[in-house]
Parts: sequence; structure tokens; C-alpha cells
Amino acid sequence: MTNAIFESVSAPRPDHLQLASPATAGDTGVSPDVTGFYDATTGSIQYVVADPLTRKSAIIDPVLDLDLRSGSTRTTSADRLLKHIETQGLTLEWILDTHPHADHFSAAGYLKDMTGASTGIGERVVEMQKLWKAIYNLPDSVPVDGSQWDRLFADGERFTVGEMKASALLSPGHTLSSVTYVMGNAAFVHDTLFMPDSGTARADFPGGDARQLWRSIQRILQLPSETRLFSGHDYRPNGRRAAWETTVAAQRAHNLHLKNCDESKFVKLRTERDRSLPMPALMLSALQVNLAGGRLPPPESDGRRYLKIPLNAFPQASWGSHAPG
Ligand SMILES: [Fe+2]
Repeated sequence: MTNAIFESVSAPRPDHLQLASPATAGDTGVSPDVTGFYDATTGSIQYVVADPLTRKSAIIDPVLDLDLRSGSTRTTSADRLLKHIETQGLTLEWILDTHPHADHFSAAGYLKDMTGASTGIGERVVEMQKLWKAIYNLPDSVPVDGSQWDRLFADGERFTVGEMKASALLSPGHTLSSVTYVMGNAAFVHDTLFMPDSGTARADFPGGDARQLWRSIQRILQLPSETRLFSGHDYRPNGRRAAWETTVAAQRAHNLHLKNCDESKFVKLRTERDRSLPMPALMLSALQVNLAGGRLPPPESDGRRYLKIPLNAFPQASWGSHAPG
């Protein structure tokens, strides 16, 4: 079948930036308190990160629950994060997404309404907004300037959580606009490196690029070897318990997709593997919400909100199996 929409919006290719060394990105003397919340439905991990000194905190990659079969949404997962913040006596400063997710709705909009904390994402999200606006054939009234977030992070841009130094490192490959947040001695690497026994994230969505993913991973691995790395997903290979924390040293030594690999071998491996993966079940639902800052589409005249699903826009028909996102 021809794939007219997909071809007509041909994704901007990443420009294979030579990214600067991130060695001074964080404040390695500070070890933030990190709590991961595992969402078994999507295999994703949401984080609450707290500056141990000031108890100011950030939420990273919050999930707004969706049951696609019934079209129901709920805020159980996001409310769990708020409860944790309350019981731990934390103050929420930031609600951050590492990238527009393809497998779940972001709860950034809901959490912004509940707390007033600042939202943020990588600045290249505007490129993804333009790309997906074409795929969804959205009206011109839909902004594609990133105005749905309070802060759009440029590569290397610094910020603070309480008194803890933090920065955003551009790390595209899985998506065009992916960033890694480095906070103290911790880095939130989202869909780049998974646990060493799981390997790496897929790079085949529009705007994704396996070569750029390799380069982003190499950049993350230049962080100090004891840096704690927190992944965005875990799919529990061989049924083991869910896990999400590792280190630069452990990834260098043991990651399944990096061992005995160089850039061209990795690109071949990643591209072949991605070709076998169906699209994530929620991709077409999730991106129209996540590219609007985690906001559901506005209500129509009957007061109800509707998602838009482009038909026959993608060739990778999945006939039932679960796919990583
Ligand atoms: Fe993702």
C-alpha cells in the first residue's frame, strides 16, 4: 500500500549534530532523592526527583491513564505522584517531559493545573509539532510554537531544582526532540538506554534516527562513570522484576546492544530490530495529546473531547502484539 500521508510529511532528518561533551552538565556532588513509579500497563517509569537540601522537586515523565478500549481517562498515576510529594514534604517546581511519548498520555497538563509548577520539554518539540500537525491535518489554529510549555530547553541549558544544578542535554534518536535531564549525580535518559539486559530504545518513529540515537548514547556515556542513570521504560525481560536504575559504568560494560558494537553495527542492529516491531498501540492517540503539552483536545459542541486517528498513514500494521514505545 502506498503511504501518502507519511511520505508527504517526510520527517525532517536529525542533523547528526556533533554534541559537546556533557561532563560538566550536572552537579555531581549532589545526590538527589529519586523515586520511580512503574506503570505496568505501559512499562514506563515516572520519577519524582528531590533536592536533598531544599526539598524542592521535579516530576519527570508523568502518565495520564488511558483505557483505549473505553476511551476513559483517569488521573490515578499522576495523583500517586502528588501524594508522594505531599507525604514527603516536597515542593514541586518542575513538571518535565523528556520527549513527546508515543505510548501514553503525559499528565503534564493535569499536574500544571493542580500545582502551578513550571512545565518543560526540549525546544525541538516545535519540529515534532509541525511534523505531526501535518499527519493529523490539524487546523491552523493549533499552535506549533511550543507555547504549550513554560520552558523549552536548548541543548546544554542549565536550570535548578531548589539549589541543585540541573541541565538538559539534547539526545535525539528515539524522537527528534528527546532530552536527557541531568540533576546532580543523576541523569534521566528516557528512551535511549534501557537496563543493560534490555538494550536500547527504538528509533523508527517519524523523526527518529538510529545513527543519532547511537551518538546520543555515546554522549550520555561520557558522563562520569558513577552517574546514576534512570531509564524511561522497562519491559521486564524474561519476567524479571521491573528495574530502572543503573550507572554509566554498568551500561558501558554490560548493555546488550552496545557490547562489541560500533556505530555502523548498532545502526544495522537497531534498524533490523525496529523493522520487526509494530507501532505502539497508543501512538496515534498519544502524540496529539502530548504535542499539546499533555492537554486533551478541546471539547466539541456537545461538550465531549475526541481524538483524531489518521487512517492508513503508516505502513507498519500491527496485528495484535504489544509494542514498546
Ligand atoms: Fe518514548
